[in-house]
Amino acid sequence: MSSVNRHRPRRSCLAVPGSSPRFLEKAQGLPVDQVFLDLEDAVAPLAKEGARKLIVDALNTGDWGDRIRVVRVNDLTTHWTYRDVIAVVEGAGANLDCIMLPKVQDAAQVKWLDLLLTQIEKTVGLEVGRIGIEAQIENAQGLVNLDEIAGASPRLETIVFGPADFMASINMKTLVVGEQPPGYPADAYHYILMRILMAARANDLQAIDGPYLQIRDVDGFRRVAARSAALGFDGKWVLHPGQVNAANEVYSPSQEDYDHAELILDAYEWSTSEAGGMKGSAMLGDEMIDEASRKMALVIAHKGRASGL
Ligand code: GLV
Ligand code: MG
Repeated sequence: MSSVNRHRPRRSCLAVPGSSPRFLEKAQGLPVDQVFLDLEDAVAPLAKEGARKLIVDALNTGDWGDRIRVVRVNDLTTHWTYRDVIAVVEGAGANLDCIMLPKVQDAAQVKWLDLLLTQIEKTVGLEVGRIGIEAQIENAQGLVNLDEIAGASPRLETIVFGPADFMASINMKTLVVGEQPPGYPADAYHYILMRILMAARANDLQAIDGPYLQIRDVDGFRRVAARSAALGFDGKWVLHPGQVNAANEVYSPSQEDYDHAELILDAYEWSTSEAGGMKGSAMLGDEMIDEASRKMALVIAHKGRASGL
């Protein structure tokens, strides 16, 4: 089985309702790292069948450039999921990077999708294992089983937080997704975000933050995005063109941090090779650099290079 590419940038992941030809067209002009064409909550039950066809057509004929192309199917408590996967992968598998599975509750659901993908790939003659999986964690069951979910398939590329469904599922007293519920003095999202980040990193996956629904409040978007970006998340959903640049900026290192990281790497490499491999640390001005700080610099440098800094 060939392996998926888990390290492509996903700073901005654009939600596109699969039932809207206008949005499917418009999405092709936006500077996002990923698009996901939605068959789930953005599409009304009676429109789902038509949306499958629109999505297949958009994937096959659209100009998606180097954006990651993802389709979100319906979750496995519905009867739509298998037909969603079959229609989209048989119809446009060669022009598709990942399937996003929402409301994942346990590892068996991911394994089901992995097997179905393999069967379809073999049937229609696609490279086996190339199509990745994005798993959305959107309820308490999913979070409790997250460690098994994150290790359930070599196709997994990302764990995605679904704050709207999640907050509803745990009864959190808020109606503004992403904002803090009144009455709690600390960060109500910290535990969930950290659980997702740990499970993702332990399995070499990306961690993606979900939507911010106040689409006209770009400052609010930046504030909420900065929180998960500071922890180490790789990107966030965007629902509106106004959120795109903010996401691309917030999840890229600043120019200053990037330049500093490259300097640390240069200084470390120069100093350790100068010493014939006998030295484990170096100085950059007044700053001591060791193997651990070199690794921190490498993370920022990788992200900066991938963002074109
Ligand atoms: C996204 O699917 C969410 O529920 O927040
Ligand atoms: Mg959801």
